[in-house]
Amino acid sequence: MYSLELRSDSPEATRTIADKLGRLLEAGDVIALYGDLGTGKTCFAQGVARGLGVPGNVTSPTFVLLREYAGRLPLYHFDAYRLNGPEDFTELGSEEYLSGPGVSIIEWAERVAGALPDDRLEVELLRLDREENTRLIRFSGTGERSRTIVEGLRRVLCSGN
Ligand SMILES: Nc1ncnc2c1ncn2[C@@H]1O[C@H](COP(=O)(O)OP(=O)(O)OP(=O)(O)O)[C@@H](O)[C@H]1O
Ligand SMILES: [Mg+2]
Repeated sequence: MYSLELRSDSPEATRTIADKLGRLLEAGDVIALYGDLGTGKTCFAQGVARGLGVPGNVTSPTFVLLREYAGRLPLYHFDAYRLNGPEDFTELGSEEYLSGPGVSIIEWAERVAGALPDDRLEVELLRLDREENTRLIRFSGTGERSRTIVEGLRRVLCSGN
């Protein structure tokens, strides 16, 4: 199985799950984030940053489009909400970032679908109806590397570390 579904009951639980993912990442990994407004994409990115050992606060890149952080690996945090399509993303230098020495995480990835690499970890956040703080987090891998990440995450979460 190349997908994994987890439930999160709080912003901190989402960050903890993402932190575990952050520890598994390697240079060149790409995480595509999907989910409606306010479902927790930035919150998830904060957890990934923590798992990568990024010091300090990670804030939403909605208006600046991209923020870069230094951790165990560089982290490139994109927000495609205000982009008009894959061309805008490419103009930001996405190709170099995505294949660079760091990890890329992209909020509103569906807006730049045509410019995403074939092998990427897709993370979808869904609000479970009426339960204000509950989210379903669905991971799926679209290629060899991202499937390895999903399996690694499953192992880490199942062993309770
Ligand atoms: N289980 C949860 N996981 C993540 N966030 C949660 C959860 N429960 C409640 N929240 C709240 O949902 C909001 C998520 O905000 P966040 O900025 O991370 O969303 P976003 O998907 O990045 O939004 P945007 O589409 O504007 O970029 C926060 O206010 C957070 O406290
Ligand atoms: Mg956000």
